[in-house]
Amino acid sequence: MLKLPGLIDPHVHLREPGATHKEDWDSGTCAALAGGFTMVLAMPNTEPPIFDAETLDIALGAAHQKARCDYAQYLGAGPHNAGIVPALAHKAAGLKMYLDSTFGELRLDDMTLWKPHFENYPREYPIVVHAESRSMAAAMFFSAMYDRPVHIAHISLREEVLLIKAAKERGIKVTCEVCPHHLFLTSPFHEREGSGVRAESTSPIGRGVRGEGRLEVRPRLATQKDVDALWENLDVIDCFATDHAPHTIEEKDSANPPPGFPGLETALPLLLTAIDHRLLTLDDLIQKMYTNPRRVFNLPEQSETWIEVDESTEYEIKAENQFTRCGWTPFEGWKVKGKIRRVVLRGKTAFEDGKILVEKGYGRNVRS
Ligand code: DOR
Ligand code: ZN
Repeated sequence: MLKLPGLIDPHVHLREPGATHKEDWDSGTCAALAGGFTMVLAMPNTEPPIFDAETLDIALGAAHQKARCDYAQYLGAGPHNAGIVPALAHKAAGLKMYLDSTFGELRLDDMTLWKPHFENYPREYPIVVHAESRSMAAAMFFSAMYDRPVHIAHISLREEVLLIKAAKERGIKVTCEVCPHHLFLTSPFHEREGSGVRAESTSPIGRGVRGEGRLEVRPRLATQKDVDALWENLDVIDCFATDHAPHTIEEKDSANPPPGFPGLETALPLLLTAIDHRLLTLDDLIQKMYTNPRRVFNLPEQSETWIEVDESTEYEIKAENQFTRCGWTPFEGWKVKGKIRRVVLRGKTAFEDGKILVEKGYGRNVRS
């Protein structure tokens, strides 16, 4: 049995308030515990979005009642709230800025809207940006201009990881995360636009994903060249984050599929399997799922908290065994090696052999 620290996921979408048919603070934090995560940082693109004191209270009220693991809630940067979010920073995971389009209403198109957020948000709390490709370069320019750290969410491209590497070498205060789906899946559409051919994973550990709507995710799945560059530059990547973004199977298979994959319950087994294939080391995993998230997001230690993993157990990923409410996974049928047996959170067994053992409300806000 392998004993690891309680993992931290700095990027999850728990859908409450507003879309609890996809997930809520209860089902999402059960999924977290089952996946070996004892702390999650929740994104603000809910309905309503979390962008002021009132909406922050709504999310934190639901979390207080229902969360089973520890948590914090992000604030979303909007066109009109740069004057009020700094005073709320101590209560929030960080400030999330959507600089490219994605699911939900939060979006800052005009770069003049970025400026007051970079200027005013307290430096001891993180700014996290959804910024792809050249928007990412622009976000790093703002970080340099205002001399404050910026964290780039879910990088997926070769050009992104190489630019971040160069920026770090020049002393820019940039950190970044990558999601398991961008490490294990590629898109078929780059080479075969409109051919109707579905994703085929070239990962050494997996098979494919079927269904066009199920492949929708932002950032999009990239090419093998991009995936290879992420693996080759793992030392540039600070954190692994799931971007757990549940949408129901009916929504994903509809005519207008929303982007997003569930990820909380598959991240650790996939990465443990990658360790078994010598693609990374256990030390890399601990750095990127515990040590670095704590440092980058300025998070407290969770005392008497650890997880126990049976390294040798092999099993098949199945949506029917998941706690997430969305009812599917892009990794259905993948064979993985490494099963989470037990999760201990602040002295209490919170998960053991497939069962959640702590009540709703056991989770604590790590920013209170
Ligand atoms: O695929 C995505 N889904 N990307 C995002 O940035 C948002 C997320 C969601 O909330 O569904
Ligand atoms: Zn996200």
